Amino acid sequence: MLNERDLTAYENLPVIPENEPERQFYYMAQIRKLVKQRQEELGRPLTAYHLCVGCQMNAKDSEKLLGVLLECGYVETDQELDADFVIYNTCTIRENANLKVYGRLGVLGSKKKQNPDMIIALCGCMMQEKTVVDKIRKSYKFVDIIFGTHNNFKLPELLYNRMINKEMIVDIWEDTTMIVEDLPAKRVYPFKSGVNIMYGCNNFCTYCIVPYVRGREKSRAPEEILDEIRRLVDDGVVEIMLLGQNVNSYGKNLETPMTFAELLQKVEEIPGLERIRFMTSHPKDLSDELIEAMKNSKKICRHLHLPLQSGSTEVLKRMNRRYTKEHYIELAEKIRREIPDIALTTDIIVGFPGETEEDFEETMEVVDRIRYESAFTFLYSKRTGTPAAKFEDQIPKEVAQKRFDRLLERVQAIAAEQCKKDVGKCVDVLVESVSEEDCKMMATGRMSNNTMVHFEGCKELYGRIVPVQITESKGFYYFGTLMPDRG
Ligand code: 5AD
Ligand code: SF4
Repeated sequence: MLNERDLTAYENLPVIPENEPERQFYYMAQIRKLVKQRQEELGRPLTAYHLCVGCQMNAKDSEKLLGVLLECGYVETDQELDADFVIYNTCTIRENANLKVYGRLGVLGSKKKQNPDMIIALCGCMMQEKTVVDKIRKSYKFVDIIFGTHNNFKLPELLYNRMINKEMIVDIWEDTTMIVEDLPAKRVYPFKSGVNIMYGCNNFCTYCIVPYVRGREKSRAPEEILDEIRRLVDDGVVEIMLLGQNVNSYGKNLETPMTFAELLQKVEEIPGLERIRFMTSHPKDLSDELIEAMKNSKKICRHLHLPLQSGSTEVLKRMNRRYTKEHYIELAEKIRREIPDIALTTDIIVGFPGETEEDFEETMEVVDRIRYESAFTFLYSKRTGTPAAKFEDQIPKEVAQKRFDRLLERVQAIAAEQCKKDVGKCVDVLVESVSEEDCKMMATGRMSNNTMVHFEGCKELYGRIVPVQITESKGFYYFGTLMPDRG
């Protein structure tokens, strides 16, 4: 576990520290005492269940939440309904995500009637919406703790207060300039990790709720990012993913401004780090300097996620994306030209208000031309509070669904063709899992361009980068053969 501290030093402090993260370490020490006491009464460990939905940012936040709970003495469980503590880290990017949370809460509520000691916490993007919190206060009164994205670090303080007071705690911040790091984190993979380089978003795409729930853009200081990566590398990490809603505008609001490409070059210099990924890029901010940095790098992976959203300049304008179809195509083609082995992936929204058949055809045209290695396709989801929710001409569900199905079919067909290109090549693969299948040990790993490869291996390969000869395409992944180490 990362950032562990000796909690006994915090147990009997005469005053509660005001500074972060010391304040939270103090509360963790107090919770640990209560957990231990309860554990002795019950004669079994206290368990914590945690659910994370949404993007890489949420996954990273969840590692911190889980790290804190383990540090407090809870034991992780996958038995949600029998857990002593349940936390949902929520997402609100599309309506479905919200509906799922309400559905699960209903089940959890009836379970809590039988086990009133169960503590239920909700956090993440969905909680930053006032209508959601009002609904939970009214219809899901059994929820114990509600907090948001800006004060994710406060879990220990809120949990301790709830243990002492037994009343619903709601703590939502509108925005913050505070960045609290260095809390314990339980990493999912020992060999790869996400690293936040910035929080929030200033772009206000008209369909998107993120700027409202994640607040304004804040870049972390480069020294802090580099320190975190060095610590991760010392802890066995070989691949990092730099995370931000719009990494291409990294550093603009730092005291000493720095570009994302400059940050990448500094990350590249860290010895022992083998692979660098990043997510997400906005086409309007992607610079030639970044393309050059990628081209010259030995560590930056051959993968770029470049959300298109729509192929129609007219729709892009109403989405407030601030690029045209032509600009996007030019950019994507330049990237393919400069870095020929790159995989381009994208996000596309279908059924944005006012999208005509012609607009949709333009999206299909861009897809045909750019030939994405993979694409995430979404049905437009109306998010209350965003400008697009009030646009006239909302597209009927059946029309949007038909377009969505056509797009998905095209995207998948192209992806399957693209996933033939590397047959016969010998590539480096970072092994992410090894398991037994049909009496054989099979390893699964990722190429630099993010494609998965499946091959016969052994447990010792887990977390290592190994050469694999690609033998067969399976549509969206490959089969291969492990080759002798090149030394
Ligand atoms: N409806 C559908 N898709 C959306 N996205 C963001 N907001 C919405 C919405 N209201 C998609 C975008 C973004 C991805 C993370 O989610 O394509 O790039
Ligand atoms: Fe949402 Fe646009 Fe910001 Fe991405 S860039 S998080 S789509 S507002």
